[in-house]
Amino acid sequence: MPAIMDQIQSCVSAIRQATSFVPESAVVLGSGLGGFAEKLQVEAQVPYASLPGFPVSTVAGHAGRFLFGYVDQKPVAVMQGRVHYYEGYSMEQVVLPIRVLGALGAKELLLTNAAGGIGPELTPGCLMLLTGHIASFVPSPLTGPNEEALGPRFPDMSEVYALPLRERAKAAAAELGIPLKEGVYLQTTGPNYETPEEIKLYRMLGADAVGMSTACEAMAARHMGMRVCGVSVVTNLAAGLGGKPLSHQEVQEVADQVSGQFQRLVWRYLSK
Ligand code: HPA
Repeated sequence: MPAIMDQIQSCVSAIRQATSFVPESAVVLGSGLGGFAEKLQVEAQVPYASLPGFPVSTVAGHAGRFLFGYVDQKPVAVMQGRVHYYEGYSMEQVVLPIRVLGALGAKELLLTNAAGGIGPELTPGCLMLLTGHIASFVPSPLTGPNEEALGPRFPDMSEVYALPLRERAKAAAAELGIPLKEGVYLQTTGPNYETPEEIKLYRMLGADAVGMSTACEAMAARHMGMRVCGVSVVTNLAAGLGGKPLSHQEVQEVADQVSGQFQRLVWRYLSK
């Protein structure tokens, strides 16, 4: 496996053969949320599979490509699909796309995901702005030799989700009349959903929603000094709270139902 800077550089070079587009910000679209890209004024698209060493999703229905284009006047890089740790990639591979986005010029990152609701107000169909995260149950993506060119060995994580970006997301939601809750996201490794006992534990620890992505990407982005914002689509009550088994199909159905609202929010946020 080539060193991380070489991996980033080969991906950037391959993208640079397709486009000279420089994004100001980037957005990662989670499960069922990829439809946002249809409104984008696309300048270029690059399939992940065309990039050397780039992780490609093994989950059916996860499109894997970068789109580069404009949200109103704003140059944005969109990741349609992401890989997850549970697919067998190392955390370093999982966050390679984030580092590539940073190397392409993105200064801000919006991370989105589908999540199970733990907090009493986080019911299926609602949107939650991340105020913070708990990543203690997954390996840090920053383990291994540190690349000073990316960021410091011991990066601060006291405000992973930048307050000004959170304010911008809240303003966008208010303008559109879209209710936007706030809470703490907890990342698990997946791929199994949690047990009801684990959900009780996570609740005690202060988690409002649970999912299998995002926190690791947010950490890699903060390491590089990118400003991060995160939004979860709550697709189900977390295990044990809804009195029925969880299914991926339910997660996808609810994500589909909310996708119109979610896309409008993301668009307004990015155009601000
Ligand atoms: N748990 C973990 N990940 C998820 C869930 C959940 O309940 N819903 C959507 N993604």
